[in-house]
Formats: sequence, C-alpha cells, structure tokens
Amino acid sequence: MIKNSSFSPVEPGVKNLEPNEFSKLLSSLVQIYLASYQSYPQYAYKTEKQVHSYLKWLYHHDPNGFFIAQIKEEVIGWAACHSNWEDWLEGKVGEVHEIVIKPAFQRKGVGHRLMEEVLSYLASRGREKATLWVGEKNQPAKEFYSKLGFVQTNQVNHWIRMVLYLTNFPPTP
Ligand SMILES: CC(C)(COP(=O)(O)OP(=O)(O)OC[C@H]1O[C@@H](n2cnc3c(N)ncnc32)[C@H](O)[C@@H]1OP(=O)(O)O)[C@@H](O)C(=O)NCCC(=O)NCCS
Repeated sequence: MIKNSSFSPVEPGVKNLEPNEFSKLLSSLVQIYLASYQSYPQYAYKTEKQVHSYLKWLYHHDPNGFFIAQIKEEVIGWAACHSNWEDWLEGKVGEVHEIVIKPAFQRKGVGHRLMEEVLSYLASRGREKATLWVGEKNQPAKEFYSKLGFVQTNQVNHWIRMVLYLTNFPPTP
C-alpha cells in the first residue's frame, strides 16, 4: 500500500510487458532511469543512448523478470532481474539488476511493491538467493535493500554486494 495517501491514494499496478509494449514505453523508461539517478550519477549510465541499450539488454535477457509499476496510464517505476544468472563467486542466483522510481513517487512504498514482485518471481524460478550490486555511497538504496532483508557479503571497488536468501520467501507473517 502506498503511504502518504494525501499525495497518492492508489496502489500502483505492477506487471510485465509484452515486447510491443516495451518498445512503446522504452523512451519513458529511459527518462525514469535518468531522473531517478540524479542524486547518484556516479553509479549510472550517463547518456540516453547508453540507457536505451542497457534497457534493451535487461529486457532481452529475462522479459518475465522485467516489471513496471504504474498508476492509471503513468509509469512511475520499473525493476529488472535475471532469474538464471551465473555469479562468479556464488553460482546460480537471481540477480536484481535494476530498480528505479520516479523522484516524485519515491519513499511511498512503490519500490517495495516492485521488489515483492521481483523476489516472488525469482523464488518461483527456484532460486535460493537474490543478489545485487549497489554503490557504496547510495545510502537510500542500501537502506531500501536492508529493510527487505538483504545483507552485505562483499565489496569490490565502489560496489557493495548484497544477498537475500529466498528459502523463506515470502516471509510468513
Ligand atoms: C532506491 C529506490 C528504488 C527505493 O524505492 P522507493 O519506492 O523510494 O522505496 P520505498 O518507498 O519502497 O521504501 C521502502 C523502505 O526503504 C527505505 N528507504 C527508501 N528510500 C529511503 C531513503 N531515501 N532514505 C532512507 N531509507 C530509505 C526505508 O526503510 C523505506 O521504508 P520507510 O519509508 O517505511 O522508512 C529509489 O529511491 C530510487 O529509485 N533510487 C534511485 C535509483 C537507485 O539508486 N536504484 C537502486 C540501484 S542499486
């Protein structure tokens, strides 16, 4: 449920995209990425062209792991994971590659809602671990992942490796 109901009283719809929908929305997904990373540009691709290629790569590698969040027709965030990722240290994992929320919709539970979908998907594909890299100074994202139960396992240069075990996912209340 979205918090701060005076701002946005509705819960976002979360769904996968058919290839034609993905193509249609690609430019707006690029803009959401660029806007969301404004405070941490050191961890993001800089040009629209780079982000276009990145998004196509993400979608192509696991279309079922690509989710958007929307309110009515407006896309307000998206997330991408890969359910069959080979990690050089940990073997086969569910890799969470990206999650971005439009700045005006951040801190309202939208990212959490998208991650529920991502983690359910990875668990449904038999993955025992969800893994990701996050920039060492990206405090909001680090807190976001910690709240979901991710823990740091490693650090390479400016990137922190985090892991969440999915054996008990979804958690019992
Ligand atoms: C990180 C990000 C995806 C979080 O999405 P969000 O929709 O804003 O997060 P939620 O509202 O679901 O927050 C869930 C919890 O995460 C933590 N959190 C989220 N944003 C936070 C912030 N700015 N500061 C501290 N904690 C934060 C809080 O514990 C929050 O729970 P609370 O609001 O009850 O305290 C979003 O800030 C974003 O798009 N950042 C820019 C892109 C990015 O860094 N992506 C991650 C790449 S690794």
